[in-house]
Amino acid sequence: MLDIIEKIKADLEKAKNLIKDNESLEEFRLKYLSRKGLFSTLFEEFRTLPGSEKGKVGKILNETKNLAQNIFDMLSESLSGNKSDSDEDYSLPGKTFNTGSKHLITQALDDITAIFRKIGFSVYEGTEIEDEFYNFDALNTPDYHPSRDMQDTFYLKGDFEKRYLLRTHTTPGQIHLMKNYKPPIRAIFPGKVFRNEAISARALGMFHQVDGLFVDTNVTFTDLKGTMDFFAKEFFGKGLKTRLRPSYFPFTEPSAEMDVECYLCNSKGCRICKYTGWLEILGCGMVDPSVFDAVNLDPEKYSGFAFGIGLERTLMIRHNIPDIRMFYENDIRFLKQF
Ligand code: DAH
Repeated sequence: MLDIIEKIKADLEKAKNLIKDNESLEEFRLKYLSRKGLFSTLFEEFRTLPGSEKGKVGKILNETKNLAQNIFDMLSESLSGNKSDSDEDYSLPGKTFNTGSKHLITQALDDITAIFRKIGFSVYEGTEIEDEFYNFDALNTPDYHPSRDMQDTFYLKGDFEKRYLLRTHTTPGQIHLMKNYKPPIRAIFPGKVFRNEAISARALGMFHQVDGLFVDTNVTFTDLKGTMDFFAKEFFGKGLKTRLRPSYFPFTEPSAEMDVECYLCNSKGCRICKYTGWLEILGCGMVDPSVFDAVNLDPEKYSGFAFGIGLERTLMIRHNIPDIRMFYENDIRFLKQF
């Protein structure tokens, strides 16, 4: 068997100089390296050799096979290289490169920021990690509230004095603002929020909210209503009617939710608006006095309103997007539409 291998080795060296095109290279591959090629056959024979011969023959057989593989790799590289140098067809159309653009979420954040800037709101960026005081206690959300459950909130592991967590809403921004700035305060605070949800067409573990806060002397529910209405008309289109519905949030009193007319069905009732003719877009209300207490502002002197917009939800309504997961799959066919 050693003789045969020596002979192959010599043939390989000769073949190296004879291969000039892809066809002869393919013949080379079939003859030596393919599944039915010489080396496969030799390795099969090798298995039947007595143990005493295996060491020596195996070594040479492997070396020779590697030689064949190297020759093949080298030649196939140089042949394909030649091709692109000399055979390029300059009459073919050029390559197109996709230009990048802003993601729908970023665009919407830009839009919302621009809308609120027009009426004097500034933008504040909070932090994604909060402690229980900012995310819950200061927002009048007591210990027994279900959102404080491990099942709903991602708590950070570790041995800290306080319990830290990934914020479940952007509302803690209110507390940071009121602790750090004196009224009048007029700001929106957009960002990512995190909830321990089962992922589905309607829910993700991470999504975006935009919260807002207006605190001054003599802020009334009428200010809230006017501001929310302005936002909805700017964001969804001028002709749309809005309505406020009584609701409940621990940090506002009274609380409301705002709906816009379902423009998919012109308020006639459809699957998307669950046959009500209205789509819910945000939660809002007057700042609860206990929240002012938590940040040492006098509720007798100051009043304010707050609101929270679920970004993905609102965009799903505006663009008729059926599944929240589509925002984050990075499917170019989706992204290109915006
Ligand atoms: N934080 C609420 C949520 O995540 C949304 C919200 C409702 C924010 C009312 C507010 C508000 O600031 O006033 O569902």
